[in-house]
Amino acid sequence: MKKMLEIISDVVGSAFEACGYDRGLGKVSVSNRPDLCEYQCNGALAGAKLYRKAPIMIAKDVVEKLAEVSAFEKVEAVAPGFINLSLAPAFVAEYVNEMMKAERFGCEKPEGEPAKTIVIDYGGPNVAKPLHVGHLRSAIIGESVKRICRYMGDKVIGDVHLGDWGLQMGLIIEGLRAQQPDLCYFDENYTGEYPEEAPFTIGELEQIYPAASARSKVDPEFAKVAHDATFKLQNGVPGYMALWQHILNVSIEDLKKNYAKLNVSFDVWKKESDAQPYVEGMIADMKAQGFAHISEGALVVDVKEETDSKEVPPCILLKSDGATLYATTDLATILEREKLFAPDEIIYYTDKRQEMHFVQVFRCARKTGIVRPGVKLQHNTFGTMNGKDGKPFKTRDGGVMRLENLIREVTDAVYEKTVENRTVSPEEARKTAEIIGVAALKYGDLSNQASKDYVFDLERFCSFDGDTGPYLLYTIVRIGSICQKYDQLEGRIEGEVSVMPAAGESEKALQLQLTGFGEMMQTAYAEKAPHKICTYLYELSNVFNKFYHDTKILAEKDRERQAAYISLLRLTRQVLLTGIDLLGFEAPERM
Ligand code: ARG
Repeated sequence: MKKMLEIISDVVGSAFEACGYDRGLGKVSVSNRPDLCEYQCNGALAGAKLYRKAPIMIAKDVVEKLAEVSAFEKVEAVAPGFINLSLAPAFVAEYVNEMMKAERFGCEKPEGEPAKTIVIDYGGPNVAKPLHVGHLRSAIIGESVKRICRYMGDKVIGDVHLGDWGLQMGLIIEGLRAQQPDLCYFDENYTGEYPEEAPFTIGELEQIYPAASARSKVDPEFAKVAHDATFKLQNGVPGYMALWQHILNVSIEDLKKNYAKLNVSFDVWKKESDAQPYVEGMIADMKAQGFAHISEGALVVDVKEETDSKEVPPCILLKSDGATLYATTDLATILEREKLFAPDEIIYYTDKRQEMHFVQVFRCARKTGIVRPGVKLQHNTFGTMNGKDGKPFKTRDGGVMRLENLIREVTDAVYEKTVENRTVSPEEARKTAEIIGVAALKYGDLSNQASKDYVFDLERFCSFDGDTGPYLLYTIVRIGSICQKYDQLEGRIEGEVSVMPAAGESEKALQLQLTGFGEMMQTAYAEKAPHKICTYLYELSNVFNKFYHDTKILAEKDRERQAAYISLLRLTRQVLLTGIDLLGFEAPERM
């Protein structure tokens, strides 16, 4: 379906043309003075210079032509040359009815834009380190952007890209050895099968890592053996490989559980280690083609450019001891993705601190040709989630908050809130609180522009009114309950009924807001900006609640009109449900 703004711009453009002006001047935008009109066109102002004519004269010419057009209820030329427009209710209703019939409410990709294959690299947790709030934003934003791109018709591969190949593995191996030195994994002469059962639980694993990490900072000897263990693992020592496999299995199971709670799911569970088979050949090629050279003992590729305003250090492929680095793995992963998916685009979600890393990796990938020239490599960063003190969010005792605990805290808060007017069993209430809690958490995050820091405000996020997830859910549930009651009414009109031209202002406002869906989705998609969806849904909820406040629906005597209201409500609910699904949360039955 054509977007509403396109249609009106077309109509206004024709009027400009009919008056002898350039058609392109007819571009219409949503009014920035909603008290005066719904849409505006500033083309007369732009045309003044071109035609050496006072803008108001041009505007008046055009307005005269537009007066004959049935799409508008009101057209006005206003000094110094604005054209103010309001749509005819019948025209709006007709568009809404088309939306109702169309797939995805008529929302499409911009004309001529083909479907793309996109890899989204998000989440990015590290194996055996607990999933903490630092990984939360990546998961929440990446999941939403994945859903948005998919909705718009792209083929999207969401990849968790587990960190399973770094020093943390050596630390865990050595930490475990310190506790259980007699395990067969540490016996170099062991030739039997390794046990199927892991020698630790997820709880134990999560103790081992922080302890080993802390020890490595004060005990250089231990740091060295952990380093060596990492190196041995990376070179395929069987006992270490077997342990690593245990660590992976135990960790992944736990991660999947946690992500499921957050409504986050990945299409592939690739890991840093999966890219290792590509490293040797990649480095040999880079050497052979003269891109890689030795600098201070390390093998590097220069990636600085003349226009750089700050220093971009060389991309290091191998350290002097031959160990590979984060950049090496990311480059090899690009090679792997080229081979497996041949994507048009790869988008990475990590916090700002990794900016330089990705500049280096992308430049190196382009320069050395491991990625085809047309492929877009994009690093989308996000700010930190802060506590009320404006510093990165911590637990009360100053530690890193585990994601699991954070979810529990939010769920508890919602559960407490709903305790008073509860009519359902505690189990059902708990389930509902979980659904609302996830919405509160995710909406609290996504409603901010991703690049900005934001304050985690439990109280505000969980509030049932205002710009919050629970408010959207509340609106959805409310509409659902009205529709259910309608379905019980005697004498109701059954079957599909069209929406009628709005009888009042608040109904028109609701219909108009609905017509903006396609426009908003194109922007959210183009800018990979879930917050645009949040703003839209919040406004949609507001105009709906205003309409509901102003209108008797179930008591309406005119059956036709009543049925038309219900159609409008159903559409509103569907759009809200679609919107929250794109944000990555769902609505409960009741609340
Ligand atoms: N595991 C990394 C971290 O915790 C994030 C991975 C991001 N993705 C990537 N391809 N580098 O910092």
